Amino acid sequence: MTRKKLMAGNWKMFKTNAETRAFFGAFTAGLAPLNNREAAIGVPATALEAAAVAVGQAPVMIAAQNIHWQEEGAFTGEISAPMVAATGAKMAIIGHSERRQFFGDTDEWVNKKIGAALKHKLIPVMCVGESLAEREGGQAFKVLETQLAGGLKGFSAADLGTLVIAYEPVWAIGTGKTATPEQAQEVHAFIRKWVKDHVDAGLADGLRILYGGSVKPDNVAQLMGQPDIDGALVGGASLDPASFLKIVNY
Ligand code: PGA
Repeated sequence: MTRKKLMAGNWKMFKTNAETRAFFGAFTAGLAPLNNREAAIGVPATALEAAAVAVGQAPVMIAAQNIHWQEEGAFTGEISAPMVAATGAKMAIIGHSERRQFFGDTDEWVNKKIGAALKHKLIPVMCVGESLAEREGGQAFKVLETQLAGGLKGFSAADLGTLVIAYEPVWAIGTGKTATPEQAQEVHAFIRKWVKDHVDAGLADGLRILYGGSVKPDNVAQLMGQPDIDGALVGGASLDPASFLKIVNY
């Protein structure tokens, strides 16, 4: 099956609403028609609505960078899937390694957050990836397997029709150290096979698996040339419209 490439940005904790509008002004003006490709950007919660408005009719999906699994309640500082959906956003990044590392997101939370995203028709982008110590200790595939099994527990293939997975080796995030296309391909093939063996062959075949970790305009094409790499999740290089345009239009 041919999978539509998904080129996604992740701004992390950057950009005010005014900066968000300025970005989309430049970005949408430079965006050529996306042939068989999709674009998305994960913005801070404060900028979700400004981004959804600024993007207008341009083919760019707005994503939240995190959601809580409850719809509402006494959870100070959190935002829920229905709140995100009401801004016009279409997607939610879930289980990013920075959430796992600094804010305590566990595989069990990731699992519940994916459930909340699906219920409210947000496309879940589930992030997985091993640390440097885990890779050097020969544990990478074991760690990935645990993250996949925990995050996807209890869902059927029908539930997961819109699921996107992002492989982001923690050692490549913000370090300028990209996985080689071959290293990334090996992991992407492993993830697809895991989904085939443990969820469903059809789902695995259509599943988009993004690579993230120091993706830049000058290394994107090589990474995207691999058979199991179906897009990118881009941090630093998505902050500048010209740089992210080069990535989207690689
Ligand atoms: P980076 O971040 O592109 O700045 O390495 C990627 C990510 O964390 O999604």
